[in-house]
Amino acid sequence: MKISVNRERLIATLQDLGAVGLDGSGGRTRLALDDGDKAGRDLFVRWLRDLELDVKIDAIGNIFGVLPGFEPGDPVTMGSHIDTVRNGGMFDGAVGVLGGLEVLRTIREKEISHRRSLAVAVFTNEEGARFAPDMMGSLVLTGVMDPNDAYRISDDCGRTVGEELDRIGYRGIDSVIPSTYLELHVEQGPFLDREGVSMGVVDGVQGIAWWKGCYRGQANHAGTTLMTMRNDALLAVSHLHVAVTDLVREWGGCATVGRVAVQPDIVNVIPGEALFTLDVRHPDVSCFHQLKIKVQEIMHRLAQRFDLQLELSQNVDVQPVTFDRRLKDLIQSVMVDHGLTFTHLWSGAGHDAQILARRVPSAMIFVPSIGGKSHCPQEESDFDQIADGVNVLLECALRVARGEGEL
Ligand code: GLV
Ligand code: MN
Ligand code: MN
Repeated sequence: MKISVNRERLIATLQDLGAVGLDGSGGRTRLALDDGDKAGRDLFVRWLRDLELDVKIDAIGNIFGVLPGFEPGDPVTMGSHIDTVRNGGMFDGAVGVLGGLEVLRTIREKEISHRRSLAVAVFTNEEGARFAPDMMGSLVLTGVMDPNDAYRISDDCGRTVGEELDRIGYRGIDSVIPSTYLELHVEQGPFLDREGVSMGVVDGVQGIAWWKGCYRGQANHAGTTLMTMRNDALLAVSHLHVAVTDLVREWGGCATVGRVAVQPDIVNVIPGEALFTLDVRHPDVSCFHQLKIKVQEIMHRLAQRFDLQLELSQNVDVQPVTFDRRLKDLIQSVMVDHGLTFTHLWSGAGHDAQILARRVPSAMIFVPSIGGKSHCPQEESDFDQIADGVNVLLECALRVARGEGEL
């Protein structure tokens, strides 16, 4: 007989977390380590304690709730993140975390035995919306990033990760290494919804590169400075935006100029300074590599062309990754057993699973995003499809924790 999670309890929990950080404009803002993120963490930890799980917090503030199995060893871990972008939706990250919590609640309630320990995890600063790089918690957990380097990273106001972890009380000392990692997530794109299937087996995640740059020219009078005599810093960003958009239309992948800030930011003054960010992604390792070289050439060429100084730093460089074949086969067979329609797809969004995949067997399950909207308040998924996804997560986690087959 198939075991099912409690759909109503799952929805109520999603709504409770979704109400944390509401920002009056329809979305919620829980930027990593801010007061909203702290309130979400406190609520999550309370739920873990209510379930009498072992609560562990590591040096970068990743939170784990561990349900011990009857054999010692690293836990089979489910999870995601609860930080959001500014004015974000209620499903991104929350579905994987609260889906994992619901799996553990169900296992506890139904007294289902499992050989290996199970855990649910919240990873710190997955979004990178306040502190770059994104996926900071999983980068530190896997040893790719030194926690001391992470502590020194600051936000736009000069507050550091280390200070903020201390301020909200989430700099811990326990470290947990998952033995296997399973992440349920909303797709955040239109593919599953358009295909009309109820679920996705994620084959891999595309590579992600971020740059932060600043062109510097000369602020000057908007009416008196001849068009041939300007050092307009914004002009380079405008050309960059068009050039990288054309480039990825030809090569595939994505390019986004997400932030632009000019100085002095006055209607009748030519911008003397233009700060910008660039996010470039591609699923193919070799195209990703070539794209990174090409966009850097473009950024420098534009500085020369418009006679500007360019200060540039790259703060994210994550390679494309494919997920563990045996876990993907397991997920697919559970979806078949559950009579669900599904397809395979690549993830356009970044996820902690792509960092963990370099260290431990990892895989992801997607549920559709209605209209393919995400990172906005209109982000939406169907609660029945989310519950189906959590049931698949439950079955997969249990089979791995029981050590079935080769897993
Ligand atoms: C995170 O959601 C990202 O893909 O940037
Ligand atoms: Mn996410
Ligand atoms: Mn996100």
